[in-house]
Amino acid sequence: AAGGPLHGKHILITAGPTHEAIDPVRYIANRSSGKQGYAIAEALRDRGARVTLVSGPTSLTPPEGITTVPVQSALDMQAACTAALPADVAICVAAVADWRVAATESQKIKKQTGDLPVLELTENPDILKMLAQADLGRPELVVGFAAETENVAAHAQAKLKRKGCDWIVANDVTARDGESVMGGDHNQVTLLTPDGAEDWNRAPKEQVAARLADKIIEYFKKS
Ligand code: C5P
Repeated sequence: AAGGPLHGKHILITAGPTHEAIDPVRYIANRSSGKQGYAIAEALRDRGARVTLVSGPTSLTPPEGITTVPVQSALDMQAACTAALPADVAICVAAVADWRVAATESQKIKKQTGDLPVLELTENPDILKMLAQADLGRPELVVGFAAETENVAAHAQAKLKRKGCDWIVANDVTARDGESVMGGDHNQVTLLTPDGAEDWNRAPKEQVAARLADKIIEYFKKS
């Protein structure tokens, strides 16, 4: 909504997985539906922000009123994020593949009996860490996600420091009632800010998004 509380703010969001090509038909990826990132993008749009959504491959429809930049790989995602700067806020929700294949094959790798292909991997850039680095025109507020299965708060605290971001949304990705967080419609998160840790109740991803968006409004009111 034009004139909403986040009017005039540009918010960059990464969402979805990345696909790291092995050859023209195969890839390496993380499990991610993109639902949480898209829900955050929509919640911020609804509060008046100008949103750029850099999205890896998902089955979701690009939301109306949001600039969606489709990407495949982590390197693509990094380039699209850099191109989208300056931003007031960056929220990295994407499940970026940690590694890519060092040399992508231009032809489909043939299956040969008794001869297994060996994939050499190389590290992908950490997009959250890059955005949190001051020398790039750092967004004022940089938010990361941390998928954890145990000691959620402690691991998230360590990640906050390691990445240099301002807030971490730590999600407990342990399955509940037979529903996985990855691909599921609910999320259970702990928000870590310099003010402390807040445990939020397990809720639909839209509700988690709305709450995070309201936190961001509160942050800009105070600053
Ligand atoms: O280190 P880890 O992957 O657990 O960190 C998760 C956070 O870092 C998420 O916010 C994710 O979007 C971001 N990330 C990133 N680029 C990477 C790896 C993670 O932006 N290569």
